Parts: sequence; structure tokens; C-alpha cells
Amino acid sequence: MGHLPVDIVVGGFFGDEGKGKVVAYLSLSKKPFAVIRTGATNAGHTVVYRGNVWKLRAVPSGFVEKSTRLYLARGMLVDKEVFLSEVRSLGLRGRVWMDHNTGIITWEHVSRERSDEYLMKSIGSTGTGVGAAMVERVLRRLRLARDYPELREFLADTQAELLDALDRGENVLVEAAQGYWLSLYHGTYPFVTSRDTTASAALSEVGLGPRHVGRIIVVFKAYVTRVGQGPLPGEITHEEAVKRGWAEYGTVTGRPRRVAPFSLELARRAVRANSATEVAVTKLDKLFHEASCVREWEKLPMEARKWIEWVESSLGVPVSIIGTGADAECVIDRAKEVGVE
Ligand code: GTP
Ligand code: IMP
Ligand code: MG
Repeated sequence: MGHLPVDIVVGGFFGDEGKGKVVAYLSLSKKPFAVIRTGATNAGHTVVYRGNVWKLRAVPSGFVEKSTRLYLARGMLVDKEVFLSEVRSLGLRGRVWMDHNTGIITWEHVSRERSDEYLMKSIGSTGTGVGAAMVERVLRRLRLARDYPELREFLADTQAELLDALDRGENVLVEAAQGYWLSLYHGTYPFVTSRDTTASAALSEVGLGPRHVGRIIVVFKAYVTRVGQGPLPGEITHEEAVKRGWAEYGTVTGRPRRVAPFSLELARRAVRANSATEVAVTKLDKLFHEASCVREWEKLPMEARKWIEWVESSLGVPVSIIGTGADAECVIDRAKEVGVE
């Protein structure tokens, strides 16, 4: 079919795999016409670039590439205040567009969730109003972006703009949120989020069909983390996680993330169900300290290369991107070498 211009970055575990960093790297290196974010503002993506750290809940992590347009998908659910404050603090006016039909989360949705003991205690929800807004959307009562005058300057038909860009031969990057095992349909129900988290669902939220898709990059961390309740095979204690240098805290809630070693079993299903063309593995530096911010495959310690090769042969897809540090530039890009680009 020739050049396929849409690439998707999607999570393969329980979210927080480092999609923000992978998207920032791909935006800086490929300079796509646009990056479009899917999901909702319960997800926090971290971007570290040249000494700055950003925690993003609404706008795409590709904002670090100045030539790239930033879109919020119409299938998204967005807390208006979170969006406006990110646009203001990052100075993104004129570069960021929200679809007319993006669903808007208000303080009422947030307070409804926070007073719901089942959601907050048994499920461990982030309490950011996403599920409550989703319920209203399904009931066709939710107000959309087009209903808010203060959002007028940001509104666009993001689907039409992307379709036109694709007709012109431009490239588009889709940034999904959370991870396969938090999917409402495919995850560890009821300990899941309120939407599907697969690559197909991300495309559906954007409004593009699968024929445009080239790379489907499923992101894994070198170990597994989970926030909130629900099963986590091989879970280790917080003390053990601290000892191994794997302790993390939630971007949105600040809660300590639960931790387990890398799971081939979880990864295999996520790869197959997303029809991954390839995999990205972040935080290799947390398994092999000498890998810290290494940018060339040949410079990785032998055991680190062996571990990556073991992941590749066990999953049956290449590892095209390797994260070796939090900064967007601490990446080994093997896309050409492994034949996915
Ligand atoms: P969700 O959409 O919430 O699932 O988030 P996410 O996948 O964007 O991940 P998040 O930013 O919440 O968490 C990943 C953490 O790992 C962040 O603190 C990143 O800065 C960090 N990180 C990402 N890649 C690497 C890496 O290769 N090495 C190291 N040391 N840190 C990394
Ligand atoms: P909710 O979607 O906020 O209601 O949360 C439901 C479950 O999904 C909880 O276990 C949350 O911790 C988890 N969750 C939601 N968003 C994220 C995310 O971005 N990263 C990791 N876990 C998340
Ligand atoms: Mg996160």
C-alpha cells in the first residue's frame, strides 16, 4: 500500500509505561504534521526535555516539537480547567485544537466520583470525573466542547483536518493513554478505567480507519507498575521496589505505584491484541545502570542487549525504541535497523 502515515503509541501494561516520553521523542525526531491525544484527563504523561519536566493531562506530549500541531480527539473526555491551565502555562495558544465534540468534565463529575466510596476505595479511581462524564455522554446529556464559549478559540473539526493532512501525504502521530490491562473491555475488570485503551479504540476516538496505520508501537516499562486496586502478578513490596530503584508515584494522584518485575505473559497479550508492529521498552536504565542515557545499541552493556533480544524473541516483534533515561533524548532508536521504518 506504500507509505502508511499514521503511527500509534499505546500502553501495554497498566498505564504509566512512559508513552509521554516516547511521543515526545518521536515528535522531535519525525516532526509529524500533528500529534493527537486520546483518552482523558485522568492520565498524566510526563515529558522531560533539556532540563524541564512537564506533567501533562490534556495536551499531547508532542508539544516540545514546535512545528507540530496539537489536537485533542473528539472521543476524549477533558477537564476544561486542566486544559486551559496547560495551554496557558505552556503558551500553546494558536498551536492546540480541541474537537467540537470532545466531552467536557466539570467539577460536578469530579465531586460525584470523589463521594463514591465504591469507585474511590474498591476500584482506586483517580477521582478525576472521567467515568462520571462518560456515563453522561452515553446518556447523551454531557455537554461537549462546542457548548462552552470560553473554548471557542480552540475548536476545530480535528477529524477533517487530519483526513485532509493525510490526503496531502502528511504524517500523524496518535498518543493513547493508560494501558491494555486497564481497558474497560480487555483489562482486569472491574479494576479498570472507563474506556477501552487499545490502539483500535484510540483510532476510533480520533475518527480514522485502520487502513492509514503504519506503526503500532506498544510501550512497556522494564518492570510493571499499577496504581489503584486489582491483580498484579508477581507484585513486590514497596520496600523491595525502593531497593531496586523502581519506586514511582502517580503523576495525577501522587499515590505510590505498585510494582512487579517485567511480565512476558501480560506483554504477549497486549502485543497480539493491539497487532503491534513493534515494541518500545522504557526505563532500561533501571535494570542496567550502565545503560543510563546510552543512545547507541552498540554502547549498551552486553547483558542489557541480551535482555532486549530475549524480549524480542519472546514477543515475536522487534524492540524499535529503548528508553535509557527520563529525558526525551535518552533513547536508542532501532527502527531502521529492525526494519519498521
Ligand atoms: P499514562 O497515560 O498515565 O499511562 O502515562 P505515561 O505512559 O505517559 O507515563 P508517566 O509519564 O505517567 O510515567 C512514566 C515515568 O517514567 C515518568 O516519570 C517518566 O519521566 C519516566 N520515564 C519514561 N521513560 C523513561 C526511561 O527510559 N528512563 C527513566 N529513568 N525514566 C523514564
Ligand atoms: P479512573 O479511570 O480514574 O476511574 O480509575 C480507574 C482505575 O484506572 C484505577 O485503578 C486508576 O488508578 C487507573 N488509572 C486511570 N488512569 C490511569 C493512568 O493514567 N495511569 C495509571 N492508572 C490509571
Ligand atoms: Mg501516567
